[in-house]
Amino acid sequence: MRKFIVAGNWKMNTTVPEGVELAKAVLEKAKDIPANVELIVAPPFTHLVSVADALKGSRIAVSAQNCADEEKGAFTGEVSADMLVSAGCSYTILGHSERRQYYGETDAKLVKKVRLALSRNLKVILCVGENLKEREAGKHFDVVRAQIENVLFNFSAEELKSIVIAYEPVWAIGTGKTATAEQAEEIHRCIRSIIEEKFGPAAADDMTILYGGSCKPSNAKELFACPDIDGGLIGGAALKADDFIGIALSF
Ligand code: 13P
Repeated sequence: MRKFIVAGNWKMNTTVPEGVELAKAVLEKAKDIPANVELIVAPPFTHLVSVADALKGSRIAVSAQNCADEEKGAFTGEVSADMLVSAGCSYTILGHSERRQYYGETDAKLVKKVRLALSRNLKVILCVGENLKEREAGKHFDVVRAQIENVLFNFSAEELKSIVIAYEPVWAIGTGKTATAEQAEEIHRCIRSIIEEKFGPAAADDMTILYGGSCKPSNAKELFACPDIDGGLIGGAALKADDFIGIALSF
């Protein structure tokens, strides 16, 4: 069964106390969200233990924003999959465009990261998406196909059950420029067909594909009404509990 998900990527925002307050505010307002919508928050590493503690036993899952590509050892500044699990995470975001763009995240590294995360029972939100130049050159389908083939095609249909795809066109992230529902649906449909080609119709039907990029309460309804858009990965609007919940109420 395909899951509907609204996930908040807090990026490098909030102090620990502010993050705990935000998590509590989201939890407080989450009771009106339909039970079939999964809610996830992804705070910075420093907040994970405190936020997971504040949300313990609740319906809101905690995700990291990244995870190391090595198990443990002399990798200064890195945070391992085991550490994330022990901090209370059940998800990690991987391959966010900001990591690809600013920190040299490659598809090859992502394969290692996804493999390690899954081996520790961490579910993965794998981000894909084209930049403005690629979109303007009409290459967006090819770019997204390559990202999916290079990473996801290394895994089995069984492993795919623990992976969620987030399509985030880079030109729509933090710019206020949302993809239109038509633009988003067209690429979501294409992603699902790529999954179907490789893993079959059942895996494609079960795959949760989120949209991310300037998603807000005012545009979420139209996006989520599309047959291949199964929720959102929310940046800026996830920093306000009312906006985040407003988006989750848009199903
Ligand atoms: P915005 O919602 O701020 O555009 O960010 C989207 C995003 O990058 C979520 O991961």
